[in-house]
Amino acid sequence: MDSQELDKRRSIIAHCLSMNALGINQGTSGNISVRHNEGLLITPTSYAYDKLEPEDIVFLQLDGAALGRRAPSSEWRFHCDILRARPDVNAIVHTHPTYCTVLAIMGRPIPAIHYMIAAAGGPEIRCSPYAIFGSQALSNHAVEALVDRKACLLGHHGMIAVGSTLEKAMWLAVEVETLARQYHGCLQIGDPPVLSDGQIADVAAKMAGYGLQD
Ligand code: 13P
Repeated sequence: MDSQELDKRRSIIAHCLSMNALGINQGTSGNISVRHNEGLLITPTSYAYDKLEPEDIVFLQLDGAALGRRAPSSEWRFHCDILRARPDVNAIVHTHPTYCTVLAIMGRPIPAIHYMIAAAGGPEIRCSPYAIFGSQALSNHAVEALVDRKACLLGHHGMIAVGSTLEKAMWLAVEVETLARQYHGCLQIGDPPVLSDGQIADVAAKMAGYGLQD
């Protein structure tokens, strides 16, 4: 393994630990991947993050063929399919954050209640229909819900955030959970007013280059 690959494996482990410390995931319910050579590096399935060593991260070809001492995340299908469908994406964070998951259980996309939704790529963060974890149906739903977006909710399941780097994907995951918490709060009071598509387009134009900087 060269030093670049070792750095990516270490970074995946550090981000696994930080997504739990940040409160956007619990236990081993999430998974992370980073594009690498002609495939990707991905977390192993059901393995405690605080025990992870670089050698536990699995290399997958984009067709799902695995190389490593552990089995890949059960969600390897959508990690492979998103990276195949989206050349702009190099990293994927999947978690079960509480407020995103509450909305996903209720089948509610996040509307443009706050201008920061533009960071996810448009005026709405979609919620895909339910499909059992690890399935091709779930992967198909995820790819579709992410068209022109960098985040989506997964019905009765959780959330996906993507980015050109793992740092950006993780930053967005925190922002999306914040939006979900804000929307949940608004719903306690009533039916919140939303910003128009034009207002979100203006924010997107002004935001170009905003967000986590390289
Ligand atoms: P893994 O432990 O297999 O990554 O699965 C957790 C999960 O999120 C299933 O949706």
